[in-house]
Amino acid sequence: MLLIRQSRILLPDREFFIGDVLIEAGKIVRIASEISDADVSTIIDATGLTLLPGAIDPQVHFREPGLEHKEDLYTASRACAKGGVTSFLEMPNTRPLTTTQAALDDKLQRAAQKCLVNYGFFIGATPENLPDLLTATPTCGTKIFMGSMHGPLLVSVEEQLEPIFAKGKRLIAVHAEDQQRISDRKKQFASITDPAIHSQIQDEQAALNATKLALKLSKKYRRRLHILHLSTGIEAEFLREDKPSWVTAEVTPQHLLLNTEAYAKMGTLAQMNPPLRSPENNDILWKALLDGVIDFIATDHAPHTLEEKAQGYPNTPSGMPGVETSLPLMLTQAMQGRCSVAQVSNWMSGAVAKGYKIPNKGAIAPGYDADLVLVDLDAYRPVLREELQTKCGWSPFEGWNLTGWPVVTIVGGQVVYDRGKFNTEVRGKALSFEE
Ligand code: DOR
Repeated sequence: MLLIRQSRILLPDREFFIGDVLIEAGKIVRIASEISDADVSTIIDATGLTLLPGAIDPQVHFREPGLEHKEDLYTASRACAKGGVTSFLEMPNTRPLTTTQAALDDKLQRAAQKCLVNYGFFIGATPENLPDLLTATPTCGTKIFMGSMHGPLLVSVEEQLEPIFAKGKRLIAVHAEDQQRISDRKKQFASITDPAIHSQIQDEQAALNATKLALKLSKKYRRRLHILHLSTGIEAEFLREDKPSWVTAEVTPQHLLLNTEAYAKMGTLAQMNPPLRSPENNDILWKALLDGVIDFIATDHAPHTLEEKAQGYPNTPSGMPGVETSLPLMLTQAMQGRCSVAQVSNWMSGAVAKGYKIPNKGAIAPGYDADLVLVDLDAYRPVLREELQTKCGWSPFEGWNLTGWPVVTIVGGQVVYDRGKFNTEVRGKALSFEE
């Protein structure tokens, strides 16, 4: 049994309560002002710290199998543990692509062997693999790249998208960018090597076109739809007017906190898909998040090596890492008054568990899984390259002075990270997803 003493506990009613939490067999069993430590094997004195449900990151690219020079499930899950991310949902653009049951099984097996936190995997849609999409299990959902494709992972035209929306019930998560428009604009701007052109090539209209098409098909079939990494104000305003109850959307910390000004400072490190937008978009996305138009936060952790990022636009890969900075980034925003700590926790845990129907996660209450993070909301520390766990070894937020850093991270009742030290014996579990 594990006892967490005297932390400031975020309860499901969004109120804080100072007290003890008792954990047994991986579950939270009791919360009270004071709990006896008889039979307890481990006690954590958490005085002055805040206890939150572990973050669930619903969009990451962990590169294994096939691209392990960028990241692997062990290094990525260490980064998760350090960042207070106790569960993740991983994308299918690995090598081989996760488009079959066999590829999904392989990932699950690898994760069982080396992941320090809990895991779930998407199955990727191609124009040909509808039978696989219908039967693959267990999976958090079907991922469709409508644009910014990875080889055969591209389903961009309505005639190919429609059967995927028409058949089956599983959640469909879309990377909403209009591939035809991107291809046309790539030709138009082909001579330009300034990475800032990336946001012009894959422009706001490209994002809006695809979001509109996905929404149209979701409405036609009443099919559960999740819009990944919403990047533009025009999409948010569109959803504000027309968002059925079965549709959810997410935003990344980088689309909230970075914008096109980042290209001048970071060059191709700021290159991602969908691209960073103008500062005005940051504000509209924030408002949509606060108003509930956007449901949760994902990092789109997409590591590439510094060498790959140095190749020069347009030969550089898109993407940036994020799992070990997302929680402190958002908690810093809360401490600076932009939102509340309870909202951050909901966007990064409770709402994700609800959206993906992951049972017993996302709240601190008896019967829930003991996936927890103790954070220090009172100490500011900068993001330092030398402290990063991600194999790619850089962060777009280096130098940012943040609070809310995880002090202790607990997965399934086991301490996996404690003040800079890892327990590398801990293994996460495969997540389950209710129908
Ligand atoms: O910038 C991105 N990079 N966006 C994605 O959706 C994919 C990702 C990657 O895998 O590198």
